[in-house]
Amino acid sequence: MPDPILKVSGLTTDISTPYGVIRAARDISFHLDRGETLGIVGESGSGKTISVLSVLGLLPSRYAQITRGTVEFNGQDITKASKRKLRKLRGKELGVVFQDPMTSLNPVVTIGTQLIEAVEAHVGDMTTEEAKARAVELLSMVGVPDAVQRLDQFPHEFSGGMKQRAMIAMAIANRPEVLIADEPTTALDVTIQAQILEVLQVAQRETDAALILITHDLGVIAEMADRVLVMYSGRVVESGPVGDVFHDPKHPYTVGLLSSLPSLDSDGQRLVPIPGTPPGGLSVPTGCAFHPRCEMSNERQLCSSTLPELTNVGNARLAACHFSDEVTDWRKAMIAGDRNDA
Ligand SMILES: Nc1ncnc2c1ncn2[C@@H]1O[C@H](COP(=O)(O)OP(=O)(O)O)[C@@H](O)[C@H]1O
Ligand code: SF4
Ligand SMILES: [Mg+2]
Repeated sequence: MPDPILKVSGLTTDISTPYGVIRAARDISFHLDRGETLGIVGESGSGKTISVLSVLGLLPSRYAQITRGTVEFNGQDITKASKRKLRKLRGKELGVVFQDPMTSLNPVVTIGTQLIEAVEAHVGDMTTEEAKARAVELLSMVGVPDAVQRLDQFPHEFSGGMKQRAMIAMAIANRPEVLIADEPTTALDVTIQAQILEVLQVAQRETDAALILITHDLGVIAEMADRVLVMYSGRVVESGPVGDVFHDPKHPYTVGLLSSLPSLDSDGQRLVPIPGTPPGGLSVPTGCAFHPRCEMSNERQLCSSTLPELTNVGNARLAACHFSDEVTDWRKAMIAGDRNDA
């Protein structure tokens, strides 16, 4: 098997707040194979954004630090790389698309100038004409009509969807090996969301990039991702091939998340949603952080006393539950129970 393009091991990130230190990412390990799409899901606050900002070297260093772990990109640990090296890497090998394009677009510079800068930054021997032609090509590729004219416009003259298209064009300007999209459609009108995801897929195809896609929309993960990571309270609690994980989850939290989707494998049954709210970063429960909300635990002592490690549960799958071998039957019983109630 070829080496993964990205290998994250034991990544741990702390955030200092006036109320104490939040361990926002805890012992995160995963890999990304070349060309594949990895989905990351989990409720708000589960550490998805902090994890990818850590990977990208984009943590706000005033109050957030990686305290442990490595991020190997093409076999090299980049957690200790200089700011300059990281910036270079992000412009070329790692393309990023955030929820809010205005965090990455400069409001006082035309879209064309920003795109041309992105293209020229890494291809030194390009003439201005060539860079402009490439910028037009990129904008057309992501479905911005009248690309030549629109190069002269400022970000505020672009609609939300068009801004996000421009962001994707910038992210792929230098044919990155990895694209990271953090909730790329969350801020957009529902009618536009599917179009932007399609553009992202086109962009990935054109560049052969591997994609990390963070979204709370499990339907999107089912459609686009090859593998999925499920996060809870700063940790990875389950991972594996999307089809397997969605069909037969091995962690009660994943079962709960999937209940927000019409069931993929039965007749549109919905399970009850997860009760309660996720823990804030300052007060993580002992043992399994999910135990106060877990409907499968039955208040077993092991759940509140001991942290379940992420362990192999077969077929390239991992789960962090002491009783993961019970999940399949428990879920079946719940679905059957729901049917009887109906
Ligand atoms: N700027 C910040 N200041 C304080 N806490 C933060 C900040 N950003 C994130 N956190 C905390 O870090 C944890 C993970 O947040 P985040 O990675 O943004 O979650 P997600 O992207 O999954 O919604 C949360 O507990 C959140 O409260
Ligand atoms: S370890 Fe216990 S509390 Fe945690 S998910 Fe498994 S059964 Fe639930
Ligand atoms: Mg986030």
